[in-house]
Amino acid sequence: MRITLTTLQKMAQEGNRITMLTCYDASFAALLEEAGVESLLIGDSLGMVLQGHESTLPVTLRDVVYHTACVARCAKRAFIIGDMPFGTFQISPQEAFRNAADIMAAGAHMVKIEGGMPMLSTIEFLTQRGIPVCGHLGLTPQSVHQLGGYRVQGRGEAAQQIVEDAKLLDSAGAGMIVLEAIPSGLARDVTAAVRAPTIGIGAGPECSGQVLVLHDMLDIYPGKKAKFVKNFMRTGGSIQGAVETYVKEVKAKTYPGPEHSFSG
Ligand code: KIV
Repeated sequence: MRITLTTLQKMAQEGNRITMLTCYDASFAALLEEAGVESLLIGDSLGMVLQGHESTLPVTLRDVVYHTACVARCAKRAFIIGDMPFGTFQISPQEAFRNAADIMAAGAHMVKIEGGMPMLSTIEFLTQRGIPVCGHLGLTPQSVHQLGGYRVQGRGEAAQQIVEDAKLLDSAGAGMIVLEAIPSGLARDVTAAVRAPTIGIGAGPECSGQVLVLHDMLDIYPGKKAKFVKNFMRTGGSIQGAVETYVKEVKAKTYPGPEHSFSG
């Protein structure tokens, strides 16, 4: 049976950790589902791990639509999220709707949008017209040049802004919120403050679920790895084993450990 947003929200309420990984093609979609991953994210990280770019900025709507369709053809059970690329949702809610509709038509069940307060009217516009939205706060890679690099966010006074942004996203209708590279304590506070399940990546163990970039956790991306990435191939032994170990450790709350987390 298909996992829906309602399924994931119920899991979060029951304390059953949500497992998510990025996925960009049909073969991996089948493998990840078989290993028990509940949600597949066609992340714009594809620009780095598939296309070899230095950032996610060059990724186009066409790229995400293509990879979403590849994943959706083979994923029979998982909840599918398509990332909205840089430049496809910032100008107006109407334009964001038209672009999000292409990703949904390719087979996504939700789209993901980076950013806080400035994205509220777009999130409201989309959710009120039938397109579920996942927010993304903390380290938002599309803003890497504004942020001055891939750095931990939400330390010190910046923490309160992330809590406020999360509450605003929640009340605008966001169905889930990704929290990237923020202190564990802050992620715990955000998770307690919002209805939407939180999905952490470098945000400690107290989120409703976890996500990693597939090529990072399989240790096949040649670039620099963030502190929060664990090489699951080391213990898993095979790709299937690595993904099963990831699912097991997220469910048991043993991943992420303190060595993968940030303090405030
Ligand atoms: O693009 C991506 O893969 C993402 C995850 C890292 C959350 O946004």
